[in-house]
Amino acid sequence: MLPKRSDFPPGFLFGAATAAYQIEGSAFGGAGPSHWDTFAATPGNVIDGSSGARACDHYHLWQTDLDLMRDAGFGAYRFSTSWARVMPDGRAPNPEALDFYDRLVDGMLERGLQPFATLYHWDLPAALADKGGWRNRDVAGWFTDYARLVHARLGDRLAATATLNEPWCIAWLSHFLGHHAPGLRDIRAASRAMHHVLLAHGTASRALRADGAGNLGIVLNFETAQPRDDSAQAAASAATQDAIYNQWFIRAVTGQPYPEAAMAGIGPHLPEGWQQDMDLVAAPLDWLGVNYYTRKLHGHAPGHWPNNADSDGPLPKTQMGWEIRPEGLTEFLIRLSRDHVGDLPVYVTENGMSLAAGPDVTDDMPRVAFIGDHLRAARAAMDQGVNLRGFFYWSLLDNYEWAFGYGPRFGLVHVDYTTMARTPKASWHAFRRMLGPDR
Ligand code: FCB
Repeated sequence: MLPKRSDFPPGFLFGAATAAYQIEGSAFGGAGPSHWDTFAATPGNVIDGSSGARACDHYHLWQTDLDLMRDAGFGAYRFSTSWARVMPDGRAPNPEALDFYDRLVDGMLERGLQPFATLYHWDLPAALADKGGWRNRDVAGWFTDYARLVHARLGDRLAATATLNEPWCIAWLSHFLGHHAPGLRDIRAASRAMHHVLLAHGTASRALRADGAGNLGIVLNFETAQPRDDSAQAAASAATQDAIYNQWFIRAVTGQPYPEAAMAGIGPHLPEGWQQDMDLVAAPLDWLGVNYYTRKLHGHAPGHWPNNADSDGPLPKTQMGWEIRPEGLTEFLIRLSRDHVGDLPVYVTENGMSLAAGPDVTDDMPRVAFIGDHLRAARAAMDQGVNLRGFFYWSLLDNYEWAFGYGPRFGLVHVDYTTMARTPKASWHAFRRMLGPDR
């Protein structure tokens, strides 16, 4: 069961989130290749060998999808613009792309949906990947040019803008663990990316503000890191993981130094002169986006820093194998407000559950329970003083789940990838009962 609308303050925003590469279809509309297209074209990187070339064909079906948002009763839609679509060669604008996003934003406003834009949800133009991508310091300037271009066209109608989605994934998951594009496993590449993502965020947000943009934020992901046993080694592994994942970015954007437990391994590989960037990185924020899904247990691994091996705990799991632990959301919201952002407005910008489709694709009652439990966890944080202003479910549609391809289904709406038919699930109807006209 979902809570009641009246359990939340009247202005509290409910929405759903998507990302360009996961739904649009990168083959359409004159988009250039992104590093995700090339990563996905390399054997072994994506479980089912699939890419986002067609995805959910949202590029053509966007009106249907916005209708689904409106009809569920949502007041806001979190979407992303694709850098490789807007700048196919990484630098020159593609007018067709800007026209597409222009219509999309107007379509949201016509349906009473506040547009929450994310400028980078992982589709780096391949031409910029060729120049080193996030390893190259110039990425801060490239990203700023792109951000200003998008804002010049859409900014007058956006309710909120996030620079980056999940810098931990952009930098660490993609350059150290090698799971996402560009698929590197290299401490030096990863360390540079860990800094350059933040430099890009700071540089772009200052430029956007100078251009007159308001309500600027960033979306960070957080994952509970706990020791797998009560040994001192496991405690140290969990602490290192927490520093890299949960502290590195939020500390930097709020003007705190990089955490020592992460600097132990990353520090020696940071680009020269990084200290001089830290003021720029801590550009003023109007809001913070929090993505939260799960927890992992951590223990010692022999060999090189960070000497960390993760494992799953005993809690019930989603289709991704991710433990379900709603109280982690409460804990992070309280911790972030207490240690980092005070009463800055915070949004849950992603939280959701992957669940395999059964014979009746609309039957997703475990997802309804998952959402209800996480909404109550969010409400519990508000009761303890957190200035939480909204909650976006991930995701509106079943879509391309990156290295896991089309297997995982996170959507409130089922997508048949052959016919592209959209079928609302029980969770969509539950939101509609909670938020919609008949509530
Ligand atoms: C987040 C991503 C999003 C989606 C969910 C399941 O890390 O931001 O694109 O893949 O996980």
